[in-house]
Amino acid sequence: MKIRVAINGYGTIGKRVADAVLKQRDMILAGVTKTKPNFEANIAKSKGIKVYAASADKLKSFQDAGMDVSGTLEDLIRDCDVVVDCTPGKVGATYKPMYEKAGVKAVFQGGEKHDVAGFSFNAVCNYSEALGRDFVRVVSCNTTGLCRSLYALDRAFGVDKARVVLIRRGADPSEDKKGPINSILPDPVTIPSHHGPDVQKVLPHIGITTSAFAVPTTLMHVHWLNLELGKSASEGDVLSVLSSYRRIMLVSASEGVDSTSQIVEYARDLGRHRYDMPELVVFKESVKSFGRELYLTQAVHQESIVVPENIDAIRAMTRLCETAEESMKMTDESLGLGG
Ligand SMILES: NC(=O)c1ccc[n+]([C@@H]2O[C@H](COP(=O)([O-])OP(=O)(O)OC[C@H]3O[C@@H](n4cnc5c(N)ncnc54)[C@H](OP(=O)(O)O)[C@@H]3O)[C@@H](O)[C@H]2O)c1
Repeated sequence: MKIRVAINGYGTIGKRVADAVLKQRDMILAGVTKTKPNFEANIAKSKGIKVYAASADKLKSFQDAGMDVSGTLEDLIRDCDVVVDCTPGKVGATYKPMYEKAGVKAVFQGGEKHDVAGFSFNAVCNYSEALGRDFVRVVSCNTTGLCRSLYALDRAFGVDKARVVLIRRGADPSEDKKGPINSILPDPVTIPSHHGPDVQKVLPHIGITTSAFAVPTTLMHVHWLNLELGKSASEGDVLSVLSSYRRIMLVSASEGVDSTSQIVEYARDLGRHRYDMPELVVFKESVKSFGRELYLTQAVHQESIVVPENIDAIRAMTRLCETAEESMKMTDESLGLGG
């Protein structure tokens, strides 16, 4: 059986999820929506992707630009089993009534509130709870990164307490109107940032406090973690556990991968499309243990880390795969991610 997938919102996340869907042998990309006939719409069409106008009132701008579209979002969702909503934060919620009326399942992104779907998803943490659901929210890039490492460490040693500082990229590379451009911005200045409570939507038992700062970079986020484990673990124990999980990549400063710029260079040299790095990247030498107290530093490629999670969410909701391992293996192999 092949599941027909529509993408509403063909921006940073939407275009990557669309490309990932094209690589799945159990999915068909029904089409994508665009609000404007720009170069992204042209490239989508050149790849053979069906482009739909996001709404009827946008059709004229496509006609004026001489670009044929296959219809509107309403037409697209009549022709799919699942819609992956990749519209800007808070916009996805406004589409939920349309998805419900059309009787299609919908995957929302981390910019929506948990309540929009009533379930927040991360493949390794709670795949089985997403089986058959109509609405799922894939948590944000930062929350996805934290869920991956905290889940692995919690399963192995127990995580009694997590204190995390997030150094967030100010904007994505294409966002030339966003900042900060010369400031370090506590975001927010109060504690906790929303990330800790968001992790708890997926891993409710983890006692986590987060503080976040936005800085003038576009490449990646960096997280500094200070954890109190349930039992002592050496640095070797921790590295061995992290390396045994899918979608966690250990990099070594001694080999020169010691910054977000070097991670991007590494991704380029690996031949990754758009220099995407959907794995959570952990700096090996940052892992330091003092018995039950653990420190580590990890990096998150915000534009791509949630892409495999969206593919797994589709499989869980449509019951294409009954287990996380089965789906994650298929997804990772199709995207060329390490085993
Ligand atoms: N970027 C990240 O780092 C990141 C990471 C994880 C999760 N997320 C989440 O993923 C979601 C999408 O974020 P994004 O970064 O991909 O945003 P984005 O780059 O701004 O893309 C959103 C796209 O949605 C389209 N759009 C705008 N208004 C629309 C509407 N009313 N109806 C249909 N389409 C509309 C726009 O396409 P047009 O070009 O056609 O106008 C735009 O390109 C958000 O919830 C965000 O929080 C983002």
